[in-house]
Order: sequence, then C-alpha cells, then structure tokens
Amino acid sequence: MDYKIKDIKLAEQGERQLEWAEAHMPVLMAIRKELSASRPLKGLKVAMLLHVTKETGVLARTVAAAGGEVFLGGSNPLSTQDDVAAALANSGMCVYAWKGQSDSDYERNMRVILDARPDVVMDDGADLHAMVHKEYGKLRIIGGTEETTTGITRLKSMEEEKVLRYPVIAVNNAYTKYLFDNRYGTGQSGVDGVIRATNIMISGKVAAVAGYGWVGRGVAMRLHGLGARVIVTEVNPFRALEAVMDGYEVRKMSEAAKNADLFITATGDKNVITPEHMLSMKDGAIMANVGHFDVEIDVRELAKRAKKTRLIREHLREYTLQNGRRIYLLAEGRLVNLGAAEGHPSEVMDLSFANQALAAVHIAKDGRGLDNKVYEVSRETDERIARLKLGSMGIGIDALTAEQKEYMKQWRYGT
Ligand SMILES: NC(=O)c1ccc[n+]([C@@H]2O[C@H](COP(=O)([O-])OP(=O)(O)OC[C@H]3O[C@@H](n4cnc5c(N)ncnc54)[C@H](O)[C@@H]3O)[C@@H](O)[C@H]2O)c1
Repeated sequence: MDYKIKDIKLAEQGERQLEWAEAHMPVLMAIRKELSASRPLKGLKVAMLLHVTKETGVLARTVAAAGGEVFLGGSNPLSTQDDVAAALANSGMCVYAWKGQSDSDYERNMRVILDARPDVVMDDGADLHAMVHKEYGKLRIIGGTEETTTGITRLKSMEEEKVLRYPVIAVNNAYTKYLFDNRYGTGQSGVDGVIRATNIMISGKVAAVAGYGWVGRGVAMRLHGLGARVIVTEVNPFRALEAVMDGYEVRKMSEAAKNADLFITATGDKNVITPEHMLSMKDGAIMANVGHFDVEIDVRELAKRAKKTRLIREHLREYTLQNGRRIYLLAEGRLVNLGAAEGHPSEVMDLSFANQALAAVHIAKDGRGLDNKVYEVSRETDERIARLKLGSMGIGIDALTAEQKEYMKQWRYGT
C-alpha cells in the first residue's frame, strides 16, 4: 500500500481521534456493521476526495469494511488532519493528503488517485469529477457521489451540457444532509474557526453574513446567539425577505462593508467581497469564508493591492490597504471551519456520511443501469437515516394511524 502524508508517527494520536469520532457517529457505525457482513463494495476501487478529518476517516473505514479498496485524498489544501491521515495510512489505506498542500500537490494527489483506475468516485466540491472529465477520458467509472452544494452546481451544469459521463448521487440534497450539516454544522464550526483564529469576542460585534442559504442561515443564527448584531447580504429576494423576517438587517454589501467588524461569506459565488468593499471597511475588520472555494473574497486582488502584509498568528493575516487601514483575512480565504478549526462535529457528519456510504453502495449496485445524470438520495434512504439518528438519541416519534392516513388522503370533508 502506498501513501503520502505529513508524518506516520502521528498514527497513534490519529487512532484516538478516530475512536472519539466513532463514538459520536452511531448511525454510520450501524451502517458499517451491516455493510461489513454484506460487503457490497467487494472488488471495487473507491476514490474519495474529501476533507481528511476524523469523521472522513470513519467513512473511509466504513467503505473499506464494505469491501472497497480506498484511495483517499484531501478535498482542500488546508483541511487535512495529519494525525488522522497517518492513522489511516498506518492501517494500510492509500492516503495522499497533508495540511498545507500547494495547489500543485493538490492536483498531483488527485492524479495519483485517478491513476489507480477507480470504479466509484466520492467527491466534495467536484474537483475530482471535473478532472475525470477533463483528463481521464478512458476511465470506465460506474458512478459517483457528491457532498456539497457547489459540487452539485458544477455537476448539474455538466449534465445540462450533456458531458456528464456517469451517474452521480447528490448527497448534499438529502434532507438529512443540508438541513443539518450545512446549517448546524457550518453554523457551529464556522464560528468556531473565527474564534480559534482570532479569539475575538463575538458579543457586541456587527457581523455581516453574505448568503442566506443553508450555510448562511446557520452562521447568522450562531453569531446572533453569541450576541453579534447580524447583517445579511443576498441576491435572492425570497431569501433576503426570509432573513428580514428572521430578524436580521438586510443590506447591500457596499453598505455592510462600511459597518461590520466581521464578514463571513457563505454563497458558493465569486468576488462577493471585492477590493472596493475592502477599501470602505473599518480599520480592524476581519474577513472569513465558509463557502466551498476560496473565491468569495477577492484574495488575489487583496494580496496584489495591499501596501503591506504580515502573519499575526496562524490563520490570521493582516493586510495594510492603500488608505492605511488594516484588515484581516482568516485561513487564506479558504473554508475557515476546516482551515482554522476541525470542520463539523462528528454528530452531524454522522448524518452526511451515512448518506455518502449508502449512496456509494447504491452506485456500486445499480449505477450501471442508471443514466448519466445527477440523482437525489432516495426518500426511503433519507428517512431511514433520520430514524436511525433519532433512535440513537433515544427519541421515539408517533406514527400515523390507519385512520389518519386515510384522512390525509381525502378531499371530501372540510369544516
Ligand atoms: N464550510 C463547510 O463546511 C460547508 C458545508 C456545506 C456547504 N458549504 C458550501 O457553502 C456554500 C453555500 O452553501 P449552501 O448550501 O448554503 O448554498 P445555498 O445555495 O443554499 O445558499 C447560497 C446563498 O448565497 C446567495 N448568493 C449567491 N451569490 C451571492 C452574492 N453575490 N451575494 C450575496 N448572496 C449570494 C444565494 O442567493 C443563496 O441564497 C457552498 O459553496 C457550499 O458548497 C460549505
């Protein structure tokens, strides 16, 4: 077995991290138990390009327990937890990931994974899917899965252009994924990333959240809960209205830029904070991103135009602008929750990765009979995961009686 990681000596520490995550991921562990008996991925090579966190380690071991031969890479240059990568490599898995990779290392690792000729591709952000389509025309892939909103946007445009070469399951679109991971996961870990990088007091700050989608809602909610006055920026009128009704101030970014102490982008879009916005920010303003790619804050222009820059502490960089004001960028404008903190808590990744594991099995079993499209997770699977999670929390819910089922179907009786 082959690997390229930071330091294999971190394996023991990584094992303890994995053990801790397993203890908080009861749904995925129940699925692992079931799959280790049936081994539906036996004989298949599974490429996984995910943030190499302890939770991903639990997923990778579940895929391996299901019989898959795993080739694991990190889906972001900053998000790998080196001790987890070491533990997985030490136990015989092919891992190509370390924290602080250069962009060229990142691409090289993706090629190593694809050179292994995988049958199934599990991705987060669709960089691996895109590389298969751009450079690996000869690979015969059964199908894939996709973890995040941005990846699904990319895959849907591939489907529309009729270039998608295999079916992909949109894990992100399961209720048991986006309602919890995007909202509560990023809500908590995004704010955690800001706090770990800066140790600022959130209470009393004015915080601008760009984007009021599932991620933005979670981040705004947690910032508000910690005492910040939250401004939301949006381009979608429904979501802007929802933010107003939820009690937030809604402003254009050009206005928010002048007033906020802290900015968090969560849009999946590019250049949401431009150099012009930055020039109108207060001295000391802090910017962070939780959207998938590092394009939401125009970091490249900032670096070009700034008079001076210095690293204040890990993940906290100061830029002195032409107007003499200093502004601060966290985790290089990459996902702050994974760059400066540890990503989502295990409890929420339990849901997301239960979907990933079952989606991979679905693709392995039925992928050859599917069209080259983006498919949703089935309602049945989604509901099963929700029920398993509730069960693991000791929560029972009511069931419809036969009479109630009948009543819900009828139209004759009103008042
Ligand atoms: N950090 C993480 O761990 C994590 C977790 C889940 C998702 N994500 C990523 O976060 C991003 C957002 O995901 P989501 O599920 O909330 O998506 P979403 O589509 O539900 O929400 C995005 C929102 O941003 C708004 N928007 C787009 N362009 C904008 C602009 N220029 N200014 C203001 N608002 C704008 C859209 O109208 C939309 O309401 C994606 O890139 C996704 O992949 C990150």
